[in-house]
Amino acid sequence: MTLVLGIETSCDDTAAAVVDGSGRVLASVVSSQLAQFAPYGGVVPELAAREQLAAWPRVFEETLARAGVGLEAIGAVAATQGPGLIGSLLVGLSLGRALAWSRRLPFFAVHHLEGHLFSPYLREGGEPALAVPDGFVGLVVSGGHTSIYAVSGATIETLAETRDDAIGEAFDKLGKRLGLPYPQGPRVDALAERGEAARSPLPRLAGTEELFFSFSGLKTHAIGAVEKLERAGVATTPTAPLDGPDPFPQPVYDLFAGFRESAVRQVLDRLTRLHRRRPFAELAVSGGAAANRELRRRLPAWAHEHGVELRLVPLVHSGDNAAMIAFAAGRRLARGEAGDDPLAAAAASRLPIARPPAAAPA
Ligand code: KG4
Ligand code: ZN
Repeated sequence: MTLVLGIETSCDDTAAAVVDGSGRVLASVVSSQLAQFAPYGGVVPELAAREQLAAWPRVFEETLARAGVGLEAIGAVAATQGPGLIGSLLVGLSLGRALAWSRRLPFFAVHHLEGHLFSPYLREGGEPALAVPDGFVGLVVSGGHTSIYAVSGATIETLAETRDDAIGEAFDKLGKRLGLPYPQGPRVDALAERGEAARSPLPRLAGTEELFFSFSGLKTHAIGAVEKLERAGVATTPTAPLDGPDPFPQPVYDLFAGFRESAVRQVLDRLTRLHRRRPFAELAVSGGAAANRELRRRLPAWAHEHGVELRLVPLVHSGDNAAMIAFAAGRRLARGEAGDDPLAAAAASRLPIARPPAAAPA
């Protein structure tokens, strides 16, 4: 059974993984530079790329060690081609190309979102992946994307995208306004657990039947609500340690909860519209923001109500990781694709997801 080595460096993480032909994740290592970017409130691309290059030898060694294999056991190499930060993509893609070329292994340049799309079928604890059906609807919620796709065999059709901010990005920007360190999304979500959404309701988009997402209006409303609290004399920057019992006053938690409620409702609303328009049997939900607690609580009920089978990405595989990249490549290998030319594959900061099957290398 071919072992695929996956590499993912599209944003700030340095990730490597080994996945076998049954989709079993033998090792998945994600080294993040979160602490490094905390003082800046966000990712600094130039620093990220340099850090990734520096982190690679350690991440690579650790991945092989955890998988319990040597490089000679690897049968194919996969790396993220795009979209993402170009300098960061270049690091991982170049490493993957060099490894594949030097060992004469098949090479797969993988679209980052194709990785996320199939990740809900990966499992934890070294279990083989669940069977991927021939057709399903994929919802990807992350810091760069909020999109819905129809997957049918090897064809991926984009059904909906965001017109402005991605959902995770809106969480990040709201958190940044309140002085939270990067990445703000998970923190806003955790703090929202202490709030009551009904005490701080936020509007949602007017009810049309359109499928597109939009989070920038919601973010602007939430920031407007922060300003209102400030005018009323409420402290809106952490007044105590963030990991302590009570870093903010109650109205801030309520605001976070109201914001999260509106964001999650928008996601469920689009799924309902889509299901009305073209019913689907299976929904696979992935991406960093698929870790959102409220979304994870509400999706099963939505799926049950609409008679839809739900595949919710395991938390360990929700954020950027290389197991999903190796898994997507493994699926292509299983379809008999030869892979991409390791001497020619080019990183792309913007990259359409629909692409023709790769030609055999020269
Ligand atoms: O998939 P990912 O790791 O990277 C991208 O491809 O963007 O997603 C990262 C995004 C960030 O915006 C982060 O704040 C958001 O996912 N995120 C969350 C949560 N956990 C991560 N957003 C809301 N609630 C969370 N629990
Ligand atoms: Zn991602």
